[in-house]
Amino acid sequence: MFPFLDYAVTANSRIVVITGGVRQQEGESRLNLVQRNVNVFKFIVPQVVKHSPNCTIIVVSNPVDIMSYVTWKLSGFPQHRIIGSGTNLDSARFRYLMSEKLGLHASSCHGYVLGEHGDSSVPVWSGVNVAGVGLQCLDPAIGTEKDTEGWKDVHKKVVDSAYEVIKLKGYTNWAIGFSVAELAESIVKNLSRVHPVSTMVKGMYGINNEVFLSLPCVLSGKGLVSVINQKLQDTEVCQLQKSADTLWNIQKDLKEL
Ligand SMILES: NC(=O)c1ccc[n+]([C@@H]2O[C@H](COP(=O)([O-])OP(=O)(O)OC[C@H]3O[C@@H](n4cnc5c(N)ncnc54)[C@H](O)[C@@H]3O)[C@@H](O)[C@H]2O)c1
Repeated sequence: MFPFLDYAVTANSRIVVITGGVRQQEGESRLNLVQRNVNVFKFIVPQVVKHSPNCTIIVVSNPVDIMSYVTWKLSGFPQHRIIGSGTNLDSARFRYLMSEKLGLHASSCHGYVLGEHGDSSVPVWSGVNVAGVGLQCLDPAIGTEKDTEGWKDVHKKVVDSAYEVIKLKGYTNWAIGFSVAELAESIVKNLSRVHPVSTMVKGMYGINNEVFLSLPCVLSGKGLVSVINQKLQDTEVCQLQKSADTLWNIQKDLKEL
């Protein structure tokens, strides 16, 4: 399979970005892709490890949280050298849609989408703010069913956006390209910037299984060096735990890892 790929040309890479695999079809969920992409990764990851044993791997292929776990298992690398592109993209889309709604520049709109990159991602309404002014302090209903301003739709649009782009042009590329370039820049330039990316979260927020989910992480020259322990509301923690359960239920049946 893929005889034209010569992994030797990638030897001694500092960062390896894995985007290989099968593409999401129109209407297909990311979780549906899993088994097909696990088989592809059994071929790719050992080659990457062989030629660049000290690299940091950024996983992009979907479902990205599960594929990050698969890469961690197949590579034998320590956790800090496996990063899933995770919700860095979802959070950027969230801040952009927030900026449209408020009529402000996106760089002045702050907020994180955490958890699973995909259908069960968690918008952290308790932290959404402009210049330190929390939107939930102005209106405690923001993001809930009682919210009359429709903020829930902002998150819904984030979840729907990849499906919409795929429907319109068949694939997504620009936004994820910029998002991953940003992650690579933080590592190459040793910036210690905080990004919501997928990491192994066992032991955090009451999660007991080995799953990867996005939390705000510090990326520096050494890879993913720490996780910021955000104070989340009980409902947000429940949502993270639910995503963790969903992912684990799929992962536990994966064979030969
Ligand atoms: N995490 C994100 O936010 C995000 C965003 C966009 C795409 N994706 C994911 O990235 C992956 C790629 O998407 P795409 O649109 O570029 O698809 P694509 O079909 O254009 O590209 C996939 C590439 O993988 C290659 N490939 C397949 N099997 C391989 C193997 N065994 N070894 C090496 N290469 C192999 C194919 O030849 C193809 O070039 C998909 O899983 C997609 O869901 C993730």
